[in-house]
Amino acid sequence: MKVEIIDATIEFKPVIKNLYPLYLHDLSEFVSDIDVSDLGLFNAEVSNLFWQKDALFPFLVKANGKLAGFTLIASPPYTSKETDYMINEFFIIRKYRRKGIGRLAAFEVFNKFRGKWEVSELPKNLPAQLFWHKVIGEYTSGRYETLNNGTKQRFINTDLHWHILEKQ
Ligand SMILES: CC(C)(COP(=O)(O)OP(=O)(O)OC[C@H]1O[C@@H](n2cnc3c(N)ncnc32)[C@H](O)[C@@H]1OP(=O)(O)O)[C@@H](O)C(=O)NCCC(=O)NCCS
Repeated sequence: MKVEIIDATIEFKPVIKNLYPLYLHDLSEFVSDIDVSDLGLFNAEVSNLFWQKDALFPFLVKANGKLAGFTLIASPPYTSKETDYMINEFFIIRKYRRKGIGRLAAFEVFNKFRGKWEVSELPKNLPAQLFWHKVIGEYTSGRYETLNNGTKQRFINTDLHWHILEKQ
């Protein structure tokens, strides 16, 4: 499986805007105040800042050339203190899940940005917690910190050396 992350430059903004409600639908299972309006639409939208600020990075995820998800990455001043990079959003379309695509997309993103990383999950989003522990554990060979009852991971990848084994 060939997994790529593609810079979601301004012409791809509508693509992420279109995928965003699918992501919100998944998160609505874990967050009480994510709801649809009477028209059946989610009110929240992806922030336009992702296409206005140099410190924010939107990416599409492609698997064997097909659109499979998106991720939004933040750097200061949009991160917590003493953090260089954060995953703001990370989404893989359902039909592409459990195929190692999220794992490879995360590795691509981590490889692209070197520094102090922080990744957080919603307390009720247990699948995401399992995913990030697995992926970050593998990426760092276990050299990462866990905080907030397992809902936050921190690691530094400035001097990590690793091999990425592609899933069959
Ligand atoms: C979480 C998410 C990104 C995982 O993407 P994915 O492409 O399915 O993940 P992968 O196939 O690369 O999984 C890698 C490993 O993570 C773990 N994992 C992934 N999804 C899991 C789940 N639902 N339950 C338990 N473990 C899971 C497994 O160990 C998996 O390896 P395995 O399939 O060999 O057992 C995807 O389910 C998703 O988009 N969810 C909705 C949005 C969301 O919650 N985003 C995270 C925000 S922090």
